[in-house]
Amino acid sequence: MTIGIDKIAFYTPKYVLDLIELAKVRGDEPEKYTIGIGQDKQSVVPNYEDIVTMGANAASKIIDDTDRQLIDSVILATESGIDNSKSGAIYIQRLLNLSEFTRTIELKQACYAGTYGLMQARDYVAAHPGRRVLVIASDIARYGLATPGEVTQGAGAIAMIISDNPKIASINTDSVYMSAERADFWRPLDRTQALVDGHLSTDIYKEMFLTLWQRYCTKTQQTISDFSGFAFHLPYTKMGKKALDEVLDQATAEQQVNLMEKLKASQQLSRQVGNIYTGSVYLSLLSLLSYSDKLQSGEKIAIFSYGSGAEAELYSITLQENFTEYVPRKSVKQLLEGRQKLSVSEYEAVFNSQLFDSHVNVKSEAVSGVTQFQFLGWQNGERVYA
Ligand code: HMG
Repeated sequence: MTIGIDKIAFYTPKYVLDLIELAKVRGDEPEKYTIGIGQDKQSVVPNYEDIVTMGANAASKIIDDTDRQLIDSVILATESGIDNSKSGAIYIQRLLNLSEFTRTIELKQACYAGTYGLMQARDYVAAHPGRRVLVIASDIARYGLATPGEVTQGAGAIAMIISDNPKIASINTDSVYMSAERADFWRPLDRTQALVDGHLSTDIYKEMFLTLWQRYCTKTQQTISDFSGFAFHLPYTKMGKKALDEVLDQATAEQQVNLMEKLKASQQLSRQVGNIYTGSVYLSLLSLLSYSDKLQSGEKIAIFSYGSGAEAELYSITLQENFTEYVPRKSVKQLLEGRQKLSVSEYEAVFNSQLFDSHVNVKSEAVSGVTQFQFLGWQNGERVYA
């Protein structure tokens, strides 16, 4: 039985910051951001959006009545959770009007958790043919104003429906994975911003990729020539190049040109959105599927998922017949082009307007007359959504 990604959708908030303007205000050279790190823009989250609204807004683009009947589980991967006990997935289940006879759960392991969710979903469908799982990866990357990580911030959600006979890509059973405790990035319970050793995290990412690549090749007897492209977790787009550089010399000159072209396609969306943590690797996949016109059905793409702390997984997917028809290329482009640009001072004000204090009954700046789900504010310690 073929199992994999049947549908995919992306959502990001409506505000956007131009990183050339940020560089000028921060006293950095713009090329450091756009070339050295590889980011042009980042999505900015208003205080009426969070991982629940972004996740529900992404999923609502793909869920239809058949899915509502067949979805048995909602798996939400996030490291920007809104509660220490209650899963964000249970809010999403209600907002999406899914059956109460549905399992809901939230998973956490930095940026890696979406991949764990995907693998759980695949195994569930293998055991329950005909049933479906909704996997959502939703996050807000928040490092703080004028920190080295600021240029890599971002926000957004990817939603995927996992089923048998998938329309986009099958998930192959060839994973290799590893976990090793490291102090490269973490966020203690009482903090709203991540602590990070950026250079260490970049080194661990590269080390784990190389380790898993060698393990994958040994286990599966495949080589780089078996892949038409890679989708990497992209905390910033240059990271993908750093990883690919680790193995590129294993390819012929012609393959190298092809892999670099595909890398560029996979970076397009992250360049304009920033890091969305758990969803980043799938944003990279969506970008590759959207911006490369050279991919063919039957071809394999290697997926490298990394989460600080640290855990990583490498596996492959195979593109299905007519997969391009199901890639939401146009709507994603429209979403990004329709964003409203903020000046640096407006971005700073939005950044500082987040409602983290549950002790105060307060309304967010939610707007009326929109179809998207919104966080309306705190009431008696409870988050209110509509
Ligand atoms: P930094 O110290 O500000 O930057 O931190 P830098 O001095 O290292 O410069 C960055 C690059 O720009 C360098 O290139 C410079 O040479 C270049 P590189 O050596 O890396 O190839 N540069 C220029 N290029 C062109 N023109 C110029 C110019 N000036 C400099 N004028 C860092 C950068 C990414 C470390 C920082 O932004 C950071 O800490 N980011 C957050 C952490 C992060 O993204 N880590 C990535 C790996 S860990 C991961 O992926 C997990 C994560 O997603 C979290 C999770 O799992 O939950 C983060």
